[in-house]
Amino acid sequence: KQQWRGVVEEYRSLLDVSESIPAVSLGEGGTPLIHADTLSELTGAEVWVKYEGLNPTASFKDRGMTMAITKAAAHGAKAVICASTGNTSASAAAYATKAGLTCAVLVPSGKIAPGKMSQAIAHGATLLEVDGNFDDCLTLCRKLSESYPVHLVNSVNPDRIEGQKTASFEVVDVLGDAPDIHVLPVGNAGNITAYWKGYRQYRETGVSTRLPQMWGFQAAGSAPIVLGHPVDEPDTIATAIRIGNPASWQLAIEARDASGGVIDSVSDEEILRAHKILSRDEGIFVEPGSASSVAGLLKMAEAGKVPAGATIAVTVTGHGLKDPGWALHTADGSEIEPKRVSVDAVSAARALGLEDR
Ligand code: F0G
Repeated sequence: KQQWRGVVEEYRSLLDVSESIPAVSLGEGGTPLIHADTLSELTGAEVWVKYEGLNPTASFKDRGMTMAITKAAAHGAKAVICASTGNTSASAAAYATKAGLTCAVLVPSGKIAPGKMSQAIAHGATLLEVDGNFDDCLTLCRKLSESYPVHLVNSVNPDRIEGQKTASFEVVDVLGDAPDIHVLPVGNAGNITAYWKGYRQYRETGVSTRLPQMWGFQAAGSAPIVLGHPVDEPDTIATAIRIGNPASWQLAIEARDASGGVIDSVSDEEILRAHKILSRDEGIFVEPGSASSVAGLLKMAEAGKVPAGATIAVTVTGHGLKDPGWALHTADGSEIEPKRVSVDAVSAARALGLEDR
């Protein structure tokens, strides 16, 4: 049986990449679309979770990065650069290494999850911690790529969007048509732009018969699109989407309006509640930023805005192991300690609350 070949080879004829360019791939894409029983029950819909944490570097960024690095390498680039809240840097570092390119990443100081930091360093990227937020890092990277021989691989690079649109193809390939609604976290707004592009392409080429509504959710402390103005000091526990001035702002608004969708915000409490439902009830471990989509879906359901029986795809963007600490605290912030026992069946049984047979 042939293994999954990564998104460039699986969808090459639908992507902006010529036949002769060899793909730089780590086997990304082909992630599971999991039927979510509890979320379906809570919303009265048929909810499917697209688990993007199962990509090679454990986030959806790999779909765009395989395209961006494939084309950068083919065009002779020697070095790539990106700004990141963590996942883009982990992905860029891995794919650059695969292609034999050097990689520099600029991250907001103290605001990226430990798993992501260690990935970028493990893959040999040069990491600069910037005294500023993600938006400052992106501004700096744009300036550097204009004046120095480094190729920018943030989602302002259209190759990134092109690769990321393959997630929509996969959803349609599994469901047989587009869902009624697709729900996503929104940070820099590249991914909602990419999904919308993918859904439109499949509709235009007749693979699907309809388009979903696009529902995007920002974290309340970092919700520029919802507020209608940039946020100078974005704040949220969901560091992945701690972004005050999204690069693809206008494209996200177009996706929202053309699809009849919504972009709204969710509080950190709502994000942590959704994080817990995913872990405890669905068996799906995600990082907090990823749970904003599920939090938003639940918020809409509570407001009576989820159509009964609708088919809904929800993307969870990054793996829980990126930022594992959140599972180790209760809602009031106290630490969850494992119970300790000696090597003794009776005390282990007592600790587990098992009754005598
Ligand atoms: N979820 C996760 C886990 C992310 O890492 C990001 C973005 C998003 C959602 C939002 O996606 O920006 O396309 O709207 N992370 C970027 C990074 C900014 O640098 O890793 P978006």
